[in-house]
Amino acid sequence: MRILVINGPNMNLLGSRQPEIYGSATLADIEANLVASFPDVDFAFIQSNSEGAIIDAIQTTDADAIVLNAAAYTHTSLAVADAVAAVDTPVIEVHLSNIYAREEIRRRSLIAPVCRGSICGFGPKVYELAVAACL
Ligand code: DQA
Repeated sequence: MRILVINGPNMNLLGSRQPEIYGSATLADIEANLVASFPDVDFAFIQSNSEGAIIDAIQTTDADAIVLNAAAYTHTSLAVADAVAAVDTPVIEVHLSNIYAREEIRRRSLIAPVCRGSICGFGPKVYELAVAACL
């Protein structure tokens, strides 16, 4: 099983970025935990602050599934949603925070309707839950 984990804009700042919302784990911590927790999964990890790079990754992956935290593009990017809809690879949407308990604009996900499922609000555990859902 090959799983591509994509993280969108500002996720490279995890650990120092609004820790009261996103916690203290860095993205490297989250990725290392996945590798340790799922030794049989072949992971690839991409983080980009660029919408186009995220779309290219969705279009070109040969992974069996994608775990996607599109970060702020979740709420704004019809282009990312179109990319998810365009590929056969199942995509699982994740968010560290409970986006439905936050500001109005964050309560709408443009990508949720085209994803296989969505998991949010459990901190770094959302990535583990998403991978477990793929197996
Ligand atoms: C986020 C939630 C988004 O609203 C926000 O823009 C992010 C992170 C999360 O993981 O909780 O950057 O996707």
